Amino acid sequence: MNNGAIGVYDSGFGGLSVWRELHDSLPAESLIYLGDGKNCPYGGRSKEQIAAFAEAAVGRLLSEGCKMIVVACNTATAAAIDKLRGRWTDTPIVGLEPAIKPACERSKTRRVGVLATAHSLAGDMFHRTAERYAADVEVVAAVGEGFVEIVEQGMESTPEAEQAVRRVVEPMLARGVDTIVLGCTHYPFLRRQIECVVGDRRVEIIDSGKAVARRVADLLDRLSLRADGGHMPQYRFLSFADEEYRMRLESKAFDRAGY
Ligand code: DGL
Repeated sequence: MNNGAIGVYDSGFGGLSVWRELHDSLPAESLIYLGDGKNCPYGGRSKEQIAAFAEAAVGRLLSEGCKMIVVACNTATAAAIDKLRGRWTDTPIVGLEPAIKPACERSKTRRVGVLATAHSLAGDMFHRTAERYAADVEVVAAVGEGFVEIVEQGMESTPEAEQAVRRVVEPMLARGVDTIVLGCTHYPFLRRQIECVVGDRRVEIIDSGKAVARRVADLLDRLSLRADGGHMPQYRFLSFADEEYRMRLESKAFDRAGY
């Protein structure tokens, strides 16, 4: 038993899509969410820069006494997960991978779309996962241009958001994909807009949130780190940006109207 908090980190608001799954499936666990905010978006930055941001963030969460870290950011995982695990060998650190494996298993057209940031798509992790699971599948990968900025500005329900999504998703549909992987934790906040562009085509949209929550639950059990059943969880929100940003993180976490 361990009533310490799980630290959840992202460049900004995106990791809240993972935070929600953890919150819902592990109701006794305290969570400390750190949304960088100051350096977001990470997607177009160098590996070294992202790794430095990730080290600062994980260091901060560990200074709060977190028992486990979830890097709820595909981009930071791609850039820094090995470095983080090498530096903090005593702490379990869970990363995010695009859900290419389940997508390939489910695709009937054998064409799978992957939406992610430029950094994630250029990284080894994406190429290794695609090679491993998508040998007989055509992977149609695209950067969700502007998606992260839209979510950061809380503009998901605007015509601009719909246009940005349409611009990226329509060409993917034209290539015949029947499964779209959301390979960036910001993108589930645009799920409704993506569904709208998909319309009545039979296309499945997959993100990694639930799989990560299952992985965290499994690790908590295996390492005897679960909070005890009657524990009253605490939810805290931190940021490297200003107080207003931190407060927006907190209200978005609990505001389920968006999706
Ligand atoms: N939420 C992010 C991810 O999962 C990072 C987006 C960004 O900062 O560009 O990739």
